Amino acid sequence: MAKRCLTLGVALLACLLVVGCGIPQEEYDAAVAEKEAAEAQVASLQSELSKAKNDLAAAQEELATAQSDLEAAQDEAAAGESKGSSAQSQISSLKGDLAAAEATIAEKEAKIAELEAELAAAEEVAEEEEEVVEEEEPALPGSLWEVQLPEPREDSNVSIEEALLKRRSIRTYTGEALTLQEVSQLLWAAQGTTSPRGFRTAPSAGATYPLETYIVVGDVEGLSEGVYRYETAQHKLVKVLEGDYRPQLTMASLGQYFVEGGAVYIVFTAIYGRTTVRAGDDEGIKYVHMEVGHAAQNVYLQAVSLGLGTVVIGGFSSDRAREILKLPESETPLYFMPVGRMRG
Ligand SMILES: Cc1cc2nc3c(=O)[nH]c(=O)nc-3n(C[C@H](O)[C@H](O)[C@H](O)COP(=O)(O)O)c2cc1C
Repeated sequence: MAKRCLTLGVALLACLLVVGCGIPQEEYDAAVAEKEAAEAQVASLQSELSKAKNDLAAAQEELATAQSDLEAAQDEAAAGESKGSSAQSQISSLKGDLAAAEATIAEKEAKIAELEAELAAAEEVAEEEEEVVEEEEPALPGSLWEVQLPEPREDSNVSIEEALLKRRSIRTYTGEALTLQEVSQLLWAAQGTTSPRGFRTAPSAGATYPLETYIVVGDVEGLSEGVYRYETAQHKLVKVLEGDYRPQLTMASLGQYFVEGGAVYIVFTAIYGRTTVRAGDDEGIKYVHMEVGHAAQNVYLQAVSLGLGTVVIGGFSSDRAREILKLPESETPLYFMPVGRMRG
């Protein structure tokens, strides 16, 4: 078993070294699983070794007892206290016990040596796996795990009145890429933090913040395709899925194929429990739905200010979207908003 694990570990390591400094998420996850398996193997061998050492200590105790019994019997025989064949037969039986105890000890010592060798090999594999995971984690080409967004701007030349006046649902886009600064601005408008106490750009019932915000990236300069979760407190993105998920989400939007031209889709999901636990089911659910409206309106207005177009898409299959985005049962997708450069 240990040998098999070692072989698998070395094979994985070699594979990773060939791939170089970048692997897709699935392979990274596999590397983490291998590391955990190697660590479990080390722990299991350590416990087996400690049991074998206990067994050895018990056998050594038996040997010491057999030796002292034999010595006592020999002393008695020499002193003539125990006579003839009975003394000799006791001595020979004790010699038998001694030989058996010595054989057991030799066996235990051999087992310990074997386990120690296996443990050393398993520890080496575990160390190598850990190094692989550490090396691969921070930056994978084309698939950064975490992206710190540039600081959002706090002013612009577009007044709030102008943004309100110009806000419209825009469903066709030029297909050009967005910049990271634009993505930063849109997400900050959606759910950015605006106070040291964690208050955000959009109001929230009881400040329970049930919304999670994702960005499905297709065309963004300096950001690889994938699905990213927006971490509002740190104003950063964490990649959760690799690849372009726009076509699949479009399919889930009940035939609204026009949305596919968006460079990104901003997706709002809700964890109702964060609000219903405080407000009760009826009120809580209502509040969550109001809240997603606030966040979406912020994105609309910010898009106008940036010269971008967007639309809220409420018509889609929640189950299908949850499946595509691999969301847990506790998280419900509510809205998605394709965003792109406006035509004309
Ligand atoms: C709850 C809700 C769901 C919506 N769902 C969709 C949708 O699935 N597809 C779409 O093209 N527009 C959708 N819209 C946008 C409306 O069609 C749009 O707001 C309306 O036509 C008015 O146009 P305006 O936003 O340009 O003022 C939705 C709007 C709301 C408020």
